[in-house]
Amino acid sequence: MKIVEQIKQPIAYEMEIFEQKFSLSMRSKVPLLNRITHYIVNRKGKQMRPMFVFLVAKMLGNEVLNDRTYRGASVIELIHTATLVHDDVVDESYRRRGFFSLNALWKNKIAVLVGDYLLSRGLLLSIDNEDFDLLQIISVAVREMSEGELLQIEKARKLDITEEVYFEIIRQKTATLIAACCAMGAAAVHADKADVEKMRKFGELIGLAFQIKDDLFDYGSEKIGKPTGIDIKEQKMTLPLIYALNAGSAKETNWLIKSVKNHNKDKKRVKEVIAKVKQLGGLEYAVQKMKDLQEEALQLLESFPPSKYKDSLILMVNYVIDRKK
Ligand code: IPE
Ligand code: IPE
Ligand code: MG
Ligand code: MG
Repeated sequence: MKIVEQIKQPIAYEMEIFEQKFSLSMRSKVPLLNRITHYIVNRKGKQMRPMFVFLVAKMLGNEVLNDRTYRGASVIELIHTATLVHDDVVDESYRRRGFFSLNALWKNKIAVLVGDYLLSRGLLLSIDNEDFDLLQIISVAVREMSEGELLQIEKARKLDITEEVYFEIIRQKTATLIAACCAMGAAAVHADKADVEKMRKFGELIGLAFQIKDDLFDYGSEKIGKPTGIDIKEQKMTLPLIYALNAGSAKETNWLIKSVKNHNKDKKRVKEVIAKVKQLGGLEYAVQKMKDLQEEALQLLESFPPSKYKDSLILMVNYVIDRKK
């Protein structure tokens, strides 16, 4: 059995219900919009965020999940989808989940509007059901994601990013939402405050590791369903490069900065930058950081009694690090 299927097995029922609800949550009467949301639903991603919601909830409560929990998972996946649609416009990226991105097929105008539509559907799903506490969590996550992406752009322009700022960026743009999934899963089954906070922290650690892994993909050439080698083109300085800038000689550092600053669209030069980062040990360093986060996250799970849900969560932590896409 594939690892993802194995992880999903104890929550197979919940995921099935979720998929139905999620697909309904973006339906529209506008024909163009409906065609596009169909396109999105038919090319679903890994659905790791709802999986986190359900696995955490079942680990802490092992009870039948209520509607509110499903709505929470749908809201998060809607928001996640909206940010990917916008992110591909921002990054001028034309592949997503192994297919064309929305901006590639329908152009930026439509992609921006569809992103807004998905975001509003997410917020309304909470508002219409008076899930105001969920709305608060989600709104903070959305604010942080925008701040994170903008901080990233600012740093890309100035090329003065430090490791500390990198971690702040990825905490905001990726980890906060995954933290929200885990906290929400715990709160859904009325876990006590300490456990909700523990799971939020767990999600944050996993979220950081998750984005480091995503940034590592960009240095590879494996088929992951979206472009690789585009971060440097966008002057996005991620952990491997930040490490290399500090590890290299003054000459190497200058060459790296100059390359990212003035030759970022030159494919051959970008390949040389990637080779240099590898040579200076940037990838190993990022992998090590990711493993430290994994270790820390696994420790947070130790206090919970054994269950198939806990086993799946452990598998999921490892999957975040070892995944192929
Ligand atoms: C991609 O997230 C964006 C990042 C935060 C790195 P996922 O890798 O979870 O995207 P899908 O939903 O599986 O496509
Ligand atoms: C993550 O950053 C995007 C969001 C969290 C919105 P990336 O730009 O690296 O994500 P991918 O690689 O396009 O999925
Ligand atoms: Mg992107
Ligand atoms: Mg990326």
